Amino acid sequence: MINVAIDGPAGAGKSSLSRLLANKLEYIYVDTGALYRAVGLKFSNLGFTTELVGDIAAVLADTALDIRFIDGAQRVFLDGNDVSDDIRTPAASMMASAVSAKPEVRAFLLDMQRNIAKRNNVVMDGRDIGTVVLPDADVKIFLTADVKVRAERRLKELLEKGEKVTFEEVLEDMKVRDYNDSHRDIAPLKQADDAVLADTSDLDFEGSLELLCSIVQKGIGA
Ligand code: DC
Repeated sequence: MINVAIDGPAGAGKSSLSRLLANKLEYIYVDTGALYRAVGLKFSNLGFTTELVGDIAAVLADTALDIRFIDGAQRVFLDGNDVSDDIRTPAASMMASAVSAKPEVRAFLLDMQRNIAKRNNVVMDGRDIGTVVLPDADVKIFLTADVKVRAERRLKELLEKGEKVTFEEVLEDMKVRDYNDSHRDIAPLKQADDAVLADTSDLDFEGSLELLCSIVQKGIGA
């Protein structure tokens, strides 16, 4: 199976670019952030805050998480319910970042991610795919952009969805998440030694996609 790992900070365009890349290659696109978001949702539904004080292992033992591909699109099911849309709010983002720092949560999601990659050609995106989840991936890309550019892009997405947020709020959230994601003890966000750096600060969407395609083509010798 061919595995393409794409890591990078929030708002770098990982999901939209990875999805299109996977389409082109006819691979499955796996958005691992959605899994952390669903786990985060479970904890917030139970009344936990981002401090996560309580018995994390007990909650996970009572959590059924499932990922299904419906018409090629990933849907995430939490305890039997499709939560794919509920996990896309700013509050869910912060909760996902909080749970993702917990070793129990990372261990809970590791095999699920590896099993999908073992059985399918995948473009998998996240924070630790090239470093931890798929260290032997055929192609590894570290996708990034300047934090202000990323905040602008995320603001646009949220406004289009009708969320009431300002640029300053989005920028601040993004800085907090960048810090949390890259400073946690376990599987922090960082570029794998053998990953190719793709900086899209000065590229539009089409340009970014072209860049990724050319990296992948070189990487798999297509
Ligand atoms: O990519 P995203 O914004 O949907 O990810 C949500 C959070 O999940 C993010 O703050 C960090 C965490 N995450 C992670 O730690 N490891 C991954 N492979 C994917 C996401």
